[in-house]
Amino acid sequence: MSTQVPSLVPGLAGIPAAESAVSFIDGQQGILEYRGHRIEVLAQRSNFEEVTWLLLHGELPTAEELTGFRAELASYRELPQGVVEMLSKLPADGHPMAALQAGYAALGMHCEGKLCARGDDIAQIIAATPSLVAAFARLRRGEEVIAPDSALDTAGNFLWMLRGEKPGEIEQHVLDTALVLHADHTMNASTFTARVVGSSEADPYTVCASAVGSLKGPLHGGANERVLAQLEGIDSPAAVKVWLDTQLHEKGKVMGFGHRVYKTKDPRATILQGLARELFEKTGTTPIYDVALALEAAVLERLGERGIYPNVDFFSGIVYQKLGIPTDIFTPIFAMSRVAGWLAHWHEQMADNRIFRPGQIFIGSHGAQYSEIDSRG
Ligand code: CMC
Repeated sequence: MSTQVPSLVPGLAGIPAAESAVSFIDGQQGILEYRGHRIEVLAQRSNFEEVTWLLLHGELPTAEELTGFRAELASYRELPQGVVEMLSKLPADGHPMAALQAGYAALGMHCEGKLCARGDDIAQIIAATPSLVAAFARLRRGEEVIAPDSALDTAGNFLWMLRGEKPGEIEQHVLDTALVLHADHTMNASTFTARVVGSSEADPYTVCASAVGSLKGPLHGGANERVLAQLEGIDSPAAVKVWLDTQLHEKGKVMGFGHRVYKTKDPRATILQGLARELFEKTGTTPIYDVALALEAAVLERLGERGIYPNVDFFSGIVYQKLGIPTDIFTPIFAMSRVAGWLAHWHEQMADNRIFRPGQIFIGSHGAQYSEIDSRG
């Protein structure tokens, strides 16, 4: 019998961790599909609620199903008072992703099989995510929490609850499209986290709180926040090449570029760039956009042949900044959308579950001698 030990694949690159029908990526050709639908088509013709249903149920909803789903989400948007009180006690200078983690945990304690026993945890979590983010963003500034408006969709409600003024059509459209673009992306770190935590039969609130922790890191969702800081640190398009040379010389990463799977431009980056253009044409451009275009060209020249191209996070921050959204709320917006994918994958995991319990390659020692504390080093 062979005793060959499998070799380690750092980051499990390319190793399948599950069978999934939720989304598909062709990283060479820059193709992304949700349940077989091309992202370009969904971005142009669909909306976040419809895409959420598609991810969760596998098919586009009928008009009746979509109306029912929207009503269900509207009925779950308002946060339980105890959750608002908990958010109001968090440190005002804490990161909103940490508040979202705490918010999911509190929501689970208030809702799971208890106060909100209307039954659907999935609708509850998806609907409450923008409310949690907007509530913390206001409470930390000492402002009142704004109640959701049942006439608005997810994107519109978020902007309303965050800023306290009704969003314009273009703003609502741009944010809704950004939510469509971020809703799922195969076995990324946060989705894998969701599946691992779900596999222990933890509840979906815990699953999503854990996935938020994974998304927060700068190599994953946290990159969008860093991209803006990076662009703001470059004085003008003319300063880009020198900045890039220094960054690469110091072995720094250029945030918003590179991807484990895409070896060409991320199709979501192309769509977000178009949205940014549309937004700037209607509301006035920003100098950061020109710096971004110069950086994209310079990175292409230096790193393009290594397959390092803009990813989804490169243009999202520029768009959110133009919508008046604070920088540390960018990654929570990613979570507001990706929660749909996490829960679709959680469903899939639970339908045929086996707890994740991978192996390891042991590199430690054996036979260590125990010594009494006062005789140690
Ligand atoms: N800038 C400079 N060099 C890069 C970059 C970058 N953005 N991305 C990859 N490289 C280089 C890297 O230094 C390494 O070089 P070498 O072989 O000489 O050591 C090589 O390319 C392979 O990179 P890696 O980090 O081992 O690749 P990975 O597949 O493990 O990581 C990544 C993918 C997305 C974490 C990485 O490209 C990165 O750190 N990018 C910057 C952060 C970022 O924009 N993250 C958002 C990802 S997309 C949205 C999301 O998932 O949330």
